Amino acid sequence: MKNVYFVPVFFILLGIQDQNTQQPERNKHIVALEEAIKGKEQMPAEQVFQNIELFKGMPAGRVLRIMETAFSPALGVTCDFCHVEGKWESDDKDKKTIARKMWRMQRELSELIREIVDRENAAVNCTTCHRGMTKPALEMPRASNKK
Ligand code: HEC
Ligand code: HEC
Repeated sequence: MKNVYFVPVFFILLGIQDQNTQQPERNKHIVALEEAIKGKEQMPAEQVFQNIELFKGMPAGRVLRIMETAFSPALGVTCDFCHVEGKWESDDKDKKTIARKMWRMQRELSELIREIVDRENAAVNCTTCHRGMTKPALEMPRASNKK
């Protein structure tokens, strides 16, 4: 008989916990795309998306995570900097084709750096240079020159 009370209380507690652990608001395009590719997250990106050159063989879900957690924050931009929103496969914006070349450059640079410092996990990525800006800095801010 006790179980009759226990079960609803258990679900109420779960509900409360759910509210407390809510994530900050996510990018609405990523949420929609995740929904659109549901069940295909682990499939190779080129079978799920229409215009994949860089990420051939990578799970489709991971491509979306790179868009959300790497490309956009590294440059401090939203998706429309590189994409015509909703026409994700289109190469109409030159920023997208530049980003492809940057990805290739980053890999070549990382290889070179590994040679130079002789350490296998040394690397550069978009953030190394861009640090949240579209145009990487060429000099330090004034204040830090005084020290
Ligand atoms: C700095 C530029 C850049 C930003 C910002 C960016 N993307 Fe991308 N995106 C790319 C590039 C480059 C590709 C192509 C990857 C390839 O060739 O494999 C791509 C591919 C995609 C694809 C696959 C499309 C297809 O059918 O081939 C989707 C979907 C996508 N991006 C969504 C997004 C979303 C959503 C955002 C924002 C959260 C975003 N991207 C932000 C550069 C960017
Ligand atoms: C070694 C440093 C370096 C790395 C690593 C790097 N970039 Fe860049 N990126 C630059 C420089 C320098 C520019 C040119 C800025 C200018 O126009 O003055 C640039 C320009 C760009 C532009 C054009 C910006 C504009 O306003 O026109 C895009 C898009 C871009 N990078 C994307 C990326 C992405 C995505 C990555 C990671 C895959 C990346 N970059 C990695 C140095 C870097």
